Amino acid sequence: MALLIGSNRINIAVFISGTGSNLKSLIKFSKLKKSPIMIKMIISNNYKAKGLQYANIYKIKKKVFDFKNTLSEKKVIYELKKNNINLICLAGFMKILSKSFIKNFKGKILNIHPSLLPKYKGLNTHERAIKNKDKYSGCTVHFVNSRLDSGKIIIQKKVKINKFDTPKSLAKRILIQEHKLYPAAIMKVLSL
Ligand code: GRF
Repeated sequence: MALLIGSNRINIAVFISGTGSNLKSLIKFSKLKKSPIMIKMIISNNYKAKGLQYANIYKIKKKVFDFKNTLSEKKVIYELKKNNINLICLAGFMKILSKSFIKNFKGKILNIHPSLLPKYKGLNTHERAIKNKDKYSGCTVHFVNSRLDSGKIIIQKKVKINKFDTPKSLAKRILIQEHKLYPAAIMKVLSL
C-alpha cells in the first residue's frame, strides 16, 4: 500500500464504541520512536465510550457522531478528509458502515474481530466457539468490505481454548493477543 512516503507517518483514525483497550495499544504503538503511524483522531458513535478518555489523556482529537444516517456519515467523511486520514482502524466499533462510506475509503479500513474468521462472524464469538467445543479460537485483523466481517484477512492469531474457559476468560486471553495483533497488521498492510 503506497501509504508510507519517505519518513512521514500515516494518519490514522481509530473508531471505537466501548472500552478502547485496542485503541490504547495502538496509541502505545504510535508512540514508539520508529512507529509508522500517527493517531490523529478518535471517532465514536457513543459519547459514553470509556475509550474516549484516551483522547484527553493523550491529547488526541475526538469526535462523536451517531452514524444513524447518511448525513451523519457524510460529516464523518468530511472530518476524515479534513484531517488527511489515510487509514481507518475499527477497534470495537459496533456500527456497520454503509457501502458508500466504505467506497470512500476503499482498501483503507481495517477491523479487528475476536475469532478466527471466517468462523464466527458477528457477535458472541467466544460463546459460540466454546459451545462448539472448538480447540482453538483467536483473533483476526481484516480489511473491511461491504459484507460483515468478510473482507480479506490480513493476519490472525490462534488462542487455545482451555477446558474450563468461560466466554469471559477466553475473551480476556484473546484480547491480550489482539493488542499485539493490530500493530502487526498495520505493519503488514504498510509493507504490501
Ligand atoms: C475486541 O474484542 C474487538 O475484537 C471487538 O470488540 C472488542 C473491543 O475491545 N470487536 P476494546 O474496546 O478494544 O477494549
